[in-house]
Amino acid sequence: MTKGLQMKEVTMIYGEGSNQMKALDHVSLSVEPGEFAAVVGPSGSGKSTFLSIAGAMLKATEGEVRLNGNVISTLTEKKLSTIRLREIGFIMQSSNLVPYLHVLDQLLVVKRMSGTIRREDQQFATKLLEELGLGQKLRKFPEELSGGEKQRTAIARALMNDPNLILADEPTASLDTKRAHEVVSLMAQEVKSRQKAAIMVTHDERMLAYCDKVYRMNDGVLTLAATS
Ligand SMILES: Nc1ncnc2c1ncn2[C@@H]1O[C@H](COP(=O)(O)OP(=O)(O)OP(=O)(O)O)[C@@H](O)[C@H]1O
Ligand SMILES: [Mg+2]
Repeated sequence: MTKGLQMKEVTMIYGEGSNQMKALDHVSLSVEPGEFAAVVGPSGSGKSTFLSIAGAMLKATEGEVRLNGNVISTLTEKKLSTIRLREIGFIMQSSNLVPYLHVLDQLLVVKRMSGTIRREDQQFATKLLEELGLGQKLRKFPEELSGGEKQRTAIARALMNDPNLILADEPTASLDTKRAHEVVSLMAQEVKSRQKAAIMVTHDERMLAYCDKVYRMNDGVLTLAATS
């Protein structure tokens, strides 16, 4: 069984008839556990579409998506929602934290969605937050956090269910340079130490140094631009 994410000849067409728009054109890639891949490209080139398909949020028009060897591109919506919950961690442009939950509960709510919270979950959440430099912020609410702290909370939350795949769409868009470096270097560290397959869409060329491979998206066509 091949671990990680494999996409084979994935094409995405939005709309119908004369309104058709090819957002992805035979995209193939493979991301192994412990590999941190970046996708760059102009606005409208298909990056978010690509990430949504990789993350089982959107069904491709054609092609195959495999996660840890299992084909997910043909699953029903119900099965896909289970995969999203258990196998995939998302980090978005803005951290999307729940305003009335403190930092520790932002992580535990993920567990509550998939069952009950055990003592080990509390310990794991605390450990993750400590790793991400938030050990002093466990009982703080989002409005009491800086932009970088919010994004680091979002990274911890994405790791909470121990997913196989981490997907990040412009995770540094709302951060200054120093905080962007902090956030992405911590992400890279977690990807390595926890052996996650990870893909980050970014406009920020300075963040590419933390990634193992850089892919470029142009008009829905994905090409490998650099390998470190
Ligand atoms: N739900 C949709 N219905 C129709 N067309 C869409 C839909 N979502 C995206 N598109 C189109 O598909 C193309 C790719 O969009 P996508 O959001 O993937 O680009 P992107 O590379 O993420 O851009 P950005 O850098 O601005 O976020 C664009 O032309 C967009 O207008
Ligand atoms: Mg986008």
